[in-house]
Amino acid sequence: MEAQLKHQDDPTPNRAPAASAATVEDQKTGRILYSRDSRETVGEAFIDEPRMSCRNVDVYYDDKHAIRNVSLDIGRNQVIAMIGPSGCDKSTFLRCLNRMNDTIDICRVTGQIHLDGVDIYDRHIDVVPLRARVGMVFQKPNPFPKSIYDNVAYGPRIHGLAQNKAEMDEVVETSLRRAGLWDEVKDRLDQPGTGLSGGQQQRLCIARTIAVGPEVILMDEPCSALDPIATSIIEDLIDELKQQFSIAIVTHSMQQASRVSQRTAYFHLGDLIEVGETAQIFTNPRHQLTQDYITGRFG
Ligand SMILES: Nc1ncnc2c1ncn2[C@@H]1O[C@H](COP(=O)(O)OP(=O)(O)OP(=O)(O)O)[C@@H](O)[C@H]1O
Ligand SMILES: [Mg+2]
Repeated sequence: MEAQLKHQDDPTPNRAPAASAATVEDQKTGRILYSRDSRETVGEAFIDEPRMSCRNVDVYYDDKHAIRNVSLDIGRNQVIAMIGPSGCDKSTFLRCLNRMNDTIDICRVTGQIHLDGVDIYDRHIDVVPLRARVGMVFQKPNPFPKSIYDNVAYGPRIHGLAQNKAEMDEVVETSLRRAGLWDEVKDRLDQPGTGLSGGQQQRLCIARTIAVGPEVILMDEPCSALDPIATSIIEDLIDELKQQFSIAIVTHSMQQASRVSQRTAYFHLGDLIEVGETAQIFTNPRHQLTQDYITGRFG
């Protein structure tokens, strides 16, 4: 079986290189066993015309090496799911994509991450507009202690995206509509965002993220604090949002990953083990570690 491996110094990154000598295959299943010495990612980590491209990204917390030499593209108008056991650095990697790790003193990121071809770690990049272009939705809904209206208007106000009240009203309504929340809150926009249900709060946070016109939305386990109904509303929303945005979602739910994503990336102890089309990852993973995780053997 031909293993598709990516080498960090491969000069033609969109072409799958041949298997390396470090690769060991299971004779029976053809799956790739432990090739961790060479830290190669199995599968298609690179795609044509990516929205974001990460190359040789390493992350350290003080002297602890967290993310190890990860290279991965984030596509346009599609969802990539990031899965893996707890503590395998999924959130750490996600936070690299909008420089949220800058807020952690002991955290150091090396390598290249580009958004539409621009190096987001360039010293001339201002992180405030960057984080509007690459928005983030967290595990626990975190509305500001402000009205529903002001939660959504906050970002556009800071970034000067509306010239007057009428324009702001429109941004707020459009964002709440896109987040599927407008009908539920249109008559109580002046009430506190914190008074909404958990699922509504999460949609409010999504509306707040959308309001500043992002290109990419990062979601770190956005449904883990929600019940199944609220979860399914958010999943439908993700499906719709991908028509306009690129979405990277960390999830512990493999059902959720297969429902909402087109590509899946499997992380293990700071390594990106395998990337591929979601259906392939869940039905026919190429790496034994991926297989072990999706069949519940560990994690
Ligand atoms: N702010 C921090 N300071 C120091 N170490 C950290 C920090 N954040 C994360 N780490 C370490 O990095 C490793 C990966 O953590 P991370 O939160 O990225 O994992 P995760 O895959 O998102 O886990 P989970 O699925 O439980 O959310 C852990 O060992 C954690 O202790
Ligand atoms: Mg996490």
